[in-house]
Amino acid sequence: MAIPVSRATERAAAAPARPTRVAVAGATGYAGQELVRLLARHPAVTLTAAMSSGASSAPRPLPSLRRIWDGAATPLDIERLASDADVVFLALPEAASAEIGAALLQRGVRVIDLSGAFRIRSGADRQRWYPATATLPDGVVYALPERHAGAIRSARLASCPGCYPTAALLALEPLSAAGLLEGSIVIDAKSGISGAGKAPSERTHFCENHGSVAAYGVFSHRHTAEIEQELRTSVTFVPHLVPLDRGILETLYVSLRRGTAEAHVAAAMQEAYAATPFVRLTGAELPEIKHVAHTNFCDIGWRIDEGRGRLVLVAVLDNLLKGAAGQAVQNMNIMLGIDERTGLL
Ligand SMILES: NC(=O)c1ccc[n+]([C@@H]2O[C@H](COP(=O)([O-])OP(=O)(O)OC[C@H]3O[C@@H](n4cnc5c(N)ncnc54)[C@H](OP(=O)(O)O)[C@@H]3O)[C@@H](O)[C@H]2O)c1
Repeated sequence: MAIPVSRATERAAAAPARPTRVAVAGATGYAGQELVRLLARHPAVTLTAAMSSGASSAPRPLPSLRRIWDGAATPLDIERLASDADVVFLALPEAASAEIGAALLQRGVRVIDLSGAFRIRSGADRQRWYPATATLPDGVVYALPERHAGAIRSARLASCPGCYPTAALLALEPLSAAGLLEGSIVIDAKSGISGAGKAPSERTHFCENHGSVAAYGVFSHRHTAEIEQELRTSVTFVPHLVPLDRGILETLYVSLRRGTAEAHVAAAMQEAYAATPFVRLTGAELPEIKHVAHTNFCDIGWRIDEGRGRLVLVAVLDNLLKGAAGQAVQNMNIMLGIDERTGLL
């Protein structure tokens, strides 16, 4: 299927008079380095600071970004983030995001957070999964651009969805909105190891995952709460680690309302995504991680068993781009009122 004409083109307003100043906290992490790579080449912004945790006081170069960005990551400095940037990206562990995000909002800076700190609206669920965020500040928007562009435009803090929820919600929300889902939803998800961040653990150690595939977090993964919040129904979500550096593939098994045909599914998906630049519908051609690695695309395909009312969808994305840094830049473009493809295509 051809890449659709962008809804963003209609949305795009005039570019801002001067480049917007942006900064990245967590720039030495996996998602943060992708942010620096994207923002350094972005035509509408100037990258004014990239910061590490501050654990080391020496500035650290980012060797993989040489000639793309030749600066050095400096230790975390909240005052400098606030004074040197109009928009700050947080690619931090959620407890750090909870604290730094709130501090930046108080100083009038717009924030785009990649962590889970600001995603959960229910106080009880947030207390369970993200206890560092006692309250949600005003102006927080759950920022899945394909679904919430209007609210994102005026957000003070865009809380980017998790990598697994992004794929699951993009696949399921159009069907849910069209009233086609009935009964259980099973999300079988497989992720490359960079989804766990750069700090090694026994689970993510090369010798543990090379040549193996393992389920984890069954009935205890915090992304379940996020998916259920957005879909407003319960799901069975089982993530797996696969021996890839990056990429997510989700196979979603759903029961359909009686009488649902392939044409209903296709119409719901096309209506949702015909004018969006980063969701590519592949229909019966099921997508693969290789098709989206190193891109901001989410590809979604499906096969239906009309007689038994069963649908299987497959959704793929790059966890570090559409699942993290790319989606964050897409959100920034929407917040700035420019074409959401800028710097991403
Ligand atoms: N990886 C993914 O696929 C993915 C996808 C979606 C969302 N996310 C979310 O994005 C965030 C970053 O993920 P990641 O995978 O890039 O993590 P990561 O590779 O572990 O990097 C973490 C970054 O945060 C910095 N940092 C650590 N503790 C800090 C603290 N207390 N204060 C300030 N900075 C601190 C680190 O600096 P040092 O280098 O100095 O340690 C590093 O720059 C997480 O919240 C994660 O859940 C990740």
